[in-house]
Amino acid sequence: MTDDVIDLMLDKLDLTQKVRLLSGATTWRTAGEPAVELRQMVMSDGPAGVRGEAWDERRTSVLLPSASAIGALWDEELTARLGGLLASEAARKGVDIVLAPTLNLHRTPLGGRHFECFSEDPELTGRTGAALIRGIQEAGTAATAKHYVANDSESERMHVDVRVSERVLREVYLAPFEAAVDAGVWLVMAGYNSVNGTTMTASALLAEPLKSDWGFDGVVVSDWGALRSATAPALAALDLAMPGPQGPWEAELVRAVQDGLVPAEAVDDKVRRLLRLAARLHALGPRRPRRTPASPSRDTRELLRRTVAAGSVLLSNRGVLPLDRAALSTVAVIGVHAATPRVQGGGSAGVFDSGTVTPLTGIRARLRGHARVVHVPGPSLGVPPAPLDPDRCSNPRSGQPGVLLRLLDAAGQELLAEHRLSGRQLEPPVVPGARTVEISALIRADTTGEWTFGVAGFGRMSLSIDDLTVLDGEFPCTTDDPAVVHVTPPLHTARATIRTHRPIRLVARRELVPDTGRAVIVAAAPPQREAAAALAEAVEAARSADAVIVVVGTTEHTETEGRDRADLRLGGHQDALVHAVAAANPRTVAVVNSGGPVELPWRDEAGAVLLTWFPGQEAGSGLADVLFGLAEPGGRLPTTWAARLADAPVTRSQPAGGRLDYEEGLHIGYRAWARAEREPAYWFGHGEGYTTWEYGAVRVPPQVTRGSAFTVGVQLRNTGARAGREVVQVYLARPDSAVERPALWFAGYAAVHAEAGEATTAVVDVPARALRHWSEEAGTWRTEPGTYRVMVGRSAGRILWHGELEVREPSAR
Ligand code: BGC
Repeated sequence: MTDDVIDLMLDKLDLTQKVRLLSGATTWRTAGEPAVELRQMVMSDGPAGVRGEAWDERRTSVLLPSASAIGALWDEELTARLGGLLASEAARKGVDIVLAPTLNLHRTPLGGRHFECFSEDPELTGRTGAALIRGIQEAGTAATAKHYVANDSESERMHVDVRVSERVLREVYLAPFEAAVDAGVWLVMAGYNSVNGTTMTASALLAEPLKSDWGFDGVVVSDWGALRSATAPALAALDLAMPGPQGPWEAELVRAVQDGLVPAEAVDDKVRRLLRLAARLHALGPRRPRRTPASPSRDTRELLRRTVAAGSVLLSNRGVLPLDRAALSTVAVIGVHAATPRVQGGGSAGVFDSGTVTPLTGIRARLRGHARVVHVPGPSLGVPPAPLDPDRCSNPRSGQPGVLLRLLDAAGQELLAEHRLSGRQLEPPVVPGARTVEISALIRADTTGEWTFGVAGFGRMSLSIDDLTVLDGEFPCTTDDPAVVHVTPPLHTARATIRTHRPIRLVARRELVPDTGRAVIVAAAPPQREAAAALAEAVEAARSADAVIVVVGTTEHTETEGRDRADLRLGGHQDALVHAVAAANPRTVAVVNSGGPVELPWRDEAGAVLLTWFPGQEAGSGLADVLFGLAEPGGRLPTTWAARLADAPVTRSQPAGGRLDYEEGLHIGYRAWARAEREPAYWFGHGEGYTTWEYGAVRVPPQVTRGSAFTVGVQLRNTGARAGREVVQVYLARPDSAVERPALWFAGYAAVHAEAGEATTAVVDVPARALRHWSEEAGTWRTEPGTYRVMVGRSAGRILWHGELEVREPSAR
């Protein structure tokens, strides 16, 4: 649809109609307008799956690996296929706009949403994000690049004022968004934070560079609830306020235009963008029958399984992996995460997955008929109890696995009763007159002793166990963070001693109070075993096995939206567990199940250390493929991992007086480590495969003209015994620069496959942008002529070759 046709539509709308389009009609829908045959457009989080409009455990989603795992792929073709999968999930759920990808950076290892971002490097983030966007949008679904910009940590996230220089913004934090716009992204989401004193929904950065310099022709949508006033965001280039209804724009924006505070053209421009988006999404004109969407198939599971293996990063291997199942008779699988892995991070990104293959199930399936698998959980993680799930409890009325959800009126009369599958009810149904949500269940009491029970939500809540009230109080809502209000409200716990094996009858109630969300989460945990005994049992199992797979990881209490991490420890007794089992059996593979970096104090003791990130629903099948050599662990670190948090050069994510200074400037991630001449545990780009490589001759053009791209050719040979994939990386440096520079910066990569013994050539394309820097004086990009150092390596810390490249001024005519 041409802009002329869109202008004709615009002429059919009066001011009130136009302004109505600029706020959400519901939490997840834009407004429709019959006068121009515009239907509502449906949005959904993202990024690791498409939840759809409801937080409802009965409407499951395909769950992909989280973004840090996708950042570890270094494979844009596969990433684009994952984008296609998100688009087909969107179609299945009637979603037009996926709120993904997240293009913020791993500025510090403590970032709470680290799992949701790809990398610490702007170039890798931009390339990965662009590939995902292409994959989503090729299928006709809109992608949303978020959260524009410098929304890289969670502390005080609704209001923090990030102080960052223009050059650092352009070269580091804006760069991935520029790549997204180049890839043709249809929406950009403005974050909650401020940058240099202005909240992002009213920031001048929305106009420049986003809309003018980069030519973004799509819609800028606010993060949910990020709009705080009418006029400033309207004057800035924000287009759509979400969620709705009753956002700050509606009547107030009409008034602001009538009073001459906001020009009518500004509103027209926003509506024009919205209509352009609608045209792209076929949301204009007579309703078209939707294609019958495909259900998740075997191919989907295969793709996810392949992705888990391709993104797994083998940090170290002392000849233990791959395991040869023919040589095994007993395998010990140890750790709580082996049977209950963490497959996704917490917060708005969460989906109800359609069935997870756990590491334990995946390993058992692979070893069935070959070796005995012994599972020992080891010490508990020492975290608050988990929400009720149907494996543990039943509906007291029907006896079915799950819980009973009831809505009661002020007199306690039942208005509605539903069987549900989870104690985590984020959106109980809305029924007029309902005052109380009640969740009840009969919990199987396989262990006697002191149980812990919990309820989360806001307002007045109570919890009773076998008719005894164990918790009753008022829990006021003290936050304006929607993720906390609606998704992760704090859990309040109480203990009760259970003396019999009869089912425990639990009843939790929450009064519904306006503006405090509707979420109610009910949790229970049996008495925990004494850590020393659990540890001893794990050691015994390790000692009697031919190989040990110990799975450790973080929990929803550490890696989640809405707060940063306090440290990088695994938590509980997990470090002691790996120390002990590795000492008991040298053939111990430590599998790390986290979205971001953790300290691995036992890393030199384990036979192999393998990262699976938050791997999504095919966690166990992909892991088993890697462990038993059906697939090579293909991932490379998208982010540098410190041995200890104290070593990391950039760790501050706590604002001081509301401000967070990005005082490290250009130097984040590996750049900062190299500048400080410190050695991390594992560098950006690191990752072993199952074969070995010999690097040979490197070809770099001796000179290029300013503004040109160039290629680096690298000869290499697979010197191992099996086929493999190698990720050849190119870095640049500029030792005698007239401007401040990172010690080195990532410029490009190429992945090659080769059979055992085969020689091949990797051709790395280095874009012209890798040679430019932002000049604040000139307000533009500059490329400094002169000699650059070109480096080829296997990671930012393992450079195998370096040479020089002369950048010349174009010859005068
Ligand atoms: C998050 C966004 C998300 C939105 C809608 C916000 O709190 O920051 O990433 O898309 O909620 O759920």
